[in-house]
Amino acid sequence: MKVAVVTILAGAVLASAEVATTSLPPLKEIHAAAATTLPESPTSDVKGLAFDRFYQIWIENIDYNDSEADTNQQWLASQGILLTNFWALTHPSEPNYCASVGGDTFGMDNDNFNQIPENVSSIVDLLDTRGISWGEYQEHLPYPGYQGFNFSDQETYAPDYVRKHNPLVLFNSVVSNDTKARQMKNFTSFDDDLKNKKLPQWAFITPNMTNDAHDTNITFASKWERPLVEKLLKNDYFMKDTLLLLTYDEDKTYIHKDGNRIFSILVGGAVPEHLKGTKDNTFYTHYSMIASVSANWKLPSLGRWDCGANLLELVANKTGYVNYDVDTSNLLLNETYPGPMADGEHAKFSPDWPVPLTTGNCSAGHGILDIVKKTYAGKTATYNYTSPYPWDAKAGYNNKVTATRKAANSTGTSTTDGDSKKNVGVPAHVPFSTILIGLVLGVPSWFI
Ligand SMILES: *[C@@H]1O[C@H](CO)[C@@H](O)[C@H](O)[C@H]1NC(C)=O
Ligand SMILES: *[C@@H]1O[C@H](CO)[C@@H](O)[C@H](O)[C@H]1NC(C)=O
Ligand SMILES: *[C@@H]1O[C@H](CO)[C@@H](O)[C@H](O)[C@H]1NC(C)=O
Ligand SMILES: *[C@@H]1O[C@H](CO)[C@@H](O)[C@H](O)[C@H]1NC(C)=O
Ligand SMILES: *[C@@H]1O[C@H](CO)[C@@H](O)[C@H](O)[C@H]1NC(C)=O
Ligand SMILES: *[C@@H]1O[C@H](CO)[C@@H](O)[C@H](O)[C@H]1NC(C)=O
Ligand SMILES: *[C@@H]1O[C@H](CO)[C@@H](O)[C@H](O)[C@H]1NC(C)=O
Ligand SMILES: *[C@@H]1O[C@H](CO)[C@@H](O)[C@H](O)[C@H]1NC(C)=O
Ligand SMILES: *[C@@H]1O[C@H](CO)[C@@H](O)[C@H](O)[C@H]1NC(C)=O
Ligand SMILES: *[C@@H]1O[C@H](CO)[C@@H](O)[C@H](O)[C@H]1NC(C)=O
Ligand SMILES: *[C@@H]1O[C@H](CO)[C@@H](O)[C@H](O)[C@H]1NC(C)=O
Ligand SMILES: *[C@@H]1O[C@H](CO)[C@@H](O)[C@H](O)[C@H]1NC(C)=O
Repeated sequence: MKVAVVTILAGAVLASAEVATTSLPPLKEIHAAAATTLPESPTSDVKGLAFDRFYQIWIENIDYNDSEADTNQQWLASQGILLTNFWALTHPSEPNYCASVGGDTFGMDNDNFNQIPENVSSIVDLLDTRGISWGEYQEHLPYPGYQGFNFSDQETYAPDYVRKHNPLVLFNSVVSNDTKARQMKNFTSFDDDLKNKKLPQWAFITPNMTNDAHDTNITFASKWERPLVEKLLKNDYFMKDTLLLLTYDEDKTYIHKDGNRIFSILVGGAVPEHLKGTKDNTFYTHYSMIASVSANWKLPSLGRWDCGANLLELVANKTGYVNYDVDTSNLLLNETYPGPMADGEHAKFSPDWPVPLTTGNCSAGHGILDIVKKTYAGKTATYNYTSPYPWDAKAGYNNKVTATRKAANSTGTSTTDGDSKKNVGVPAHVPFSTILIGLVLGVPSWFI
């Protein structure tokens, strides 16, 4: 009997170690895999500068002011630091999830069955450089490593799990490896890992389509989120030196003056007592979370938009990195630039995969990931990835936005020109100038 089980497991392991060739696997196959595929729960204890665990929970499609008006969100903010200037990157959902782990949208302007080639790295590759354990908890994922397009309530067919809200499944570099694939788990595994003290150091939590407000609203989602967080705040094992980010994929209104700002909150044991109930007005994006994780654990950069992204103050204060003030009055993050994942709805298709930076220190201060340097050796970066916000001169995308170093105590001027040494990783004590970013000649916007 035992032998038989082992054989079946081995079969399942092989089957799930491949990149999916279909977006809609038959239910029979899903049930068979669910019966045999075991979750993977690696652990580690790598000390970070500002936190030892970084988790994020994403709700869907809520405008800043609507979150702000919700009493449960107000309560959550009172337990930590409210980030008042945190921006999602584009619309619709999937490119935001993609960006949060890949440092790029790759032009994605849709919620399609997108697969990102194996030679594109993700945050997993950064964490792996120091053996920092990671995982995902996707509510109603039918089995660890499931790659199908959705898994719905089998009686009502109401959507529960959707692939477009799972960041790591988009990356072939993750799903082509069976062990890694099985670190993407059902939300029930969160309870198991919590109980068994097997939680990873980095994790991404996606509630189902009801709990995440996608098919409901902020009132409903906050009633799901608050009790969960309230319980976790009392759990010493979970909260010790943990930073938990409560945020959104994007806002709801595609066109308005607030342009994709999302009501984001940091809670957890890593938030100093005296900062609870305070606000942080620093400019952040989803890319800042990759950069902050890198700076915290001394990891390299993907060489994409994580390279120039501002660091969470909690971390920047430890490394001495000086963040940028971004003048957001001309910032438009409601769509993205051309790329291979665009289907022409909001962004232009371009066949070329954007080339990342292969040199530079980046805001995290530890250069570029080795495999990125090797894969893209000798190639010129497609964008000025040292900028704290995404822009593209060629497409006229955010090319009139400006940014200055926060410390207004310096001389000289510089423009972003892809020379990362000039304006990246400058410690606070170095006199540094006002830096203008994106002030290139206005190229007519193709996208208006
Ligand atoms: C948020 O702003 C929008 C307009 O941009 C408005 O329709 C909505 O009522 C506001 N919500 C609240 C809670 O004030
Ligand atoms: C990465 O893989 C894609 C898809 O296979 C390919 O088009 C591209 O040329 C590769 N890039 C590099 C730098 O090897
Ligand atoms: C996945 O989690 C949901 C609740 O989040 C639970 O109802 C379901 O039984 C779980 N499925 C598996 C295969 O563990
Ligand atoms: C995926 O969604 C479609 C459309 O709602 C539904 O018909 C199908 O049963 C779902 N698939 C699974 C595996 O839940
Ligand atoms: C979403 O999850 C909750 C439990 O957290 C469950 O009650 C609900 O049935 C799930 N799905 C749908 C479609 O409501
Ligand atoms: C697959 O991932 C695991 C866990 O990260 C790693 O130990 C293993 O070396 C990887 N296998 C390959 C073939 O890359
Ligand atoms: C959310 O939906 C519930 C039930 O339909 C409703 O009572 C509540 O007022 C809604 N909240 C908002 C902010 O619209
Ligand atoms: C983004 O906002 C601009 C300016 O308001 C608007 O012209 C454009 O249509 C918006 N894009 C999308 C995808 O809604
Ligand atoms: C960072 O340092 C500044 C200046 O000392 C301080 O005002 C701020 O509260 C600190 N922020 C955090 C999150 O530690
Ligand atoms: C790289 O960044 C680190 C951390 O911010 C800093 O200590 C170091 O001086 C930087 N190196 C260069 C060459 O800018
Ligand atoms: C990067 O910046 C330089 C100088 O500001 C500009 O000439 C170039 O077009 C920019 N490149 C891209 C891809 O935006
Ligand atoms: C500017 O820096 C100098 C030397 O580091 C310091 O003495 C001075 O107080 C700073 N001024 C401001 C306005 O921060």
